[in-house]
Amino acid sequence: MVMTIALDGPAASGKSTVGEMLAEHLDFLFFDTGVMYRAITLAAIEAGISVVDEQACTHLAERTKIDVRPPSVEDGRPNDILIDGADKTWEIRTPKVDEHVSIVSAYPGVRHALTEKQRQIGKRGDVVMVGRDIGTVVMPDARLKIFLDASLEERARRRHQERIDRGEAANFRHVLEVLQQRDQIDSNRDVAPLRPASDAVVIDSDTMTVEQVFKKILQYVAEKGIG
Ligand code: CDP
Ligand code: CDP
Repeated sequence: MVMTIALDGPAASGKSTVGEMLAEHLDFLFFDTGVMYRAITLAAIEAGISVVDEQACTHLAERTKIDVRPPSVEDGRPNDILIDGADKTWEIRTPKVDEHVSIVSAYPGVRHALTEKQRQIGKRGDVVMVGRDIGTVVMPDARLKIFLDASLEERARRRHQERIDRGEAANFRHVLEVLQQRDQIDSNRDVAPLRPASDAVVIDSDTMTVEQVFKKILQYVAEKGIG
């Protein structure tokens, strides 16, 4: 039986950073499911499909091939993200995708298509899986479920800093507003809304460093006898 650790939470709560550390530490696979919703959103934008066209977005989710591969370029990327064979690793992280991704990922048909793909990938081996609904919907039998949280202001500060560090122009207020909108849509959609599973442990990371969060998670890992 393969083992899953579910790591859910709102944007910029630290899921990917801590998830990657945990996967490396345990020698598990790391899978960031947000990449898939971002890929479909980018594919829609590039194809000139309006993100309010639910049917067209759903068809796109059903037929688009998304590959996550080991990095082929040393530019800080954790993986290559290929959409129908084309390298879109950085394109899926642009502000334009941030602004539209929650609309696309609220569509039940899009979620259905991507959830199935995620479960297939989840069965490939022991995995740390990161997203919004891993503990509640995608992998409800996960051995350990963590819900990583932080205040809106702190998360906006982190995301803003990331943009600055990448040499991009970034306005703190705008970053905060987009995060807030995304949280709002993600938490209130009908299908698989963002919320902790009833059996998840919630970590509020507001005043914690990455190292402190990682250590805390290792305690839960040890309690569950993982690794
Ligand atoms: O990295 P960040 O937390 O900013 O976002 P992400 O994890 O890449 O997810 C982008 C968007 O995809 C989220 O705001 C959700 O709308 C959607 N998503 C989802 O609905 N379910 C998931 N399991 C993962 C992401
Ligand atoms: O994956 P998610 O969107 O939840 O967040 P992330 O991309 O892993 O983290 C956002 C940024 O916050 C990264 O630059 C982290 O180094 C930073 N950070 C953190 O993740 N956790 C803390 N406790 C403090 C800072």
